[in-house]
Amino acid sequence: MRTTIRDMLRMKEAGERIAVLTSYDYPSARLAERAGVRVLLVGDSLGEVVQGHDSTLAVTLDDMVRHAAAVVRGSEQALVICDLPFLTYATIEDAVFAARRVMQEAGVHAVKLEGGAPVVPVVRHLVERGVPVVGHLGYTPQSKHQVGIRVQAKEAASAKRLIEDALALEAAGAFAIVLELVPAPLARAVSERLHIPTIGIGAGIGCDGQVQVWHDIIGLCDKSPRHAKRFGEIGAAIEQAIAAYVAEVQAGTFPTDAQSSKMDEEQLALALGQRA
Ligand code: KIV
Repeated sequence: MRTTIRDMLRMKEAGERIAVLTSYDYPSARLAERAGVRVLLVGDSLGEVVQGHDSTLAVTLDDMVRHAAAVVRGSEQALVICDLPFLTYATIEDAVFAARRVMQEAGVHAVKLEGGAPVVPVVRHLVERGVPVVGHLGYTPQSKHQVGIRVQAKEAASAKRLIEDALALEAAGAFAIVLELVPAPLARAVSERLHIPTIGIGAGIGCDGQVQVWHDIIGLCDKSPRHAKRFGEIGAAIEQAIAAYVAEVQAGTFPTDAQSSKMDEEQLALALGQRA
């Protein structure tokens, strides 16, 4: 049975912490799910960690549909949330179009969009029409050039605004809110005030769950942000495996008979004209 948005609400009520992980393709979804991840986020961070851009801004709706469809195919039990990319929800009509594509064409179960008060009418409209929505406050990567990559809401006024935005998103029907680069005490206070779960990234242990980027936790990036923890060094393991492959090809020890296709000797002799 797939995790549902009700399960996420129940997890918050039960004090069960929610581990969310980004996923961008079939194998990453399968592995994450096997490892116990119950909520997958097809993040537009794919623009950075998969496509090599320096921001999420270049990611298109077509990109999200293609990657999200692979994640849905690779998972059987996870709730799959998909980011709506930059400027695809600037108007209610755009948002409906984008949500329809990722839900109908890719089969995701919910969408995530960034921002506070300005996106509240969009969130309300989507939710009222059956689209489960996750909000995203604090550092919002799609506004990178406006806000800069840094901890947000450190002053009383901006902290108060963030609390108001979170309450407004909840009232509009969002079923969870990502808090990115928000001071830990503020994130804890927001989490305590909301009925819906908060999912933190660089926002401390007081959130109801955490989200991390796949490449960061498995060590697939050369460098990761400070708020990420490397739980493995898969990049080094991949490099080692590929270096061993290159060395065996160069040494003529790969492939062996075990990796080679066979042919009946008589058929070969006939083909080469060595036998009539
Ligand atoms: O795009 C993404 O991966 C995200 C997470 C970092 C929350 O939005």
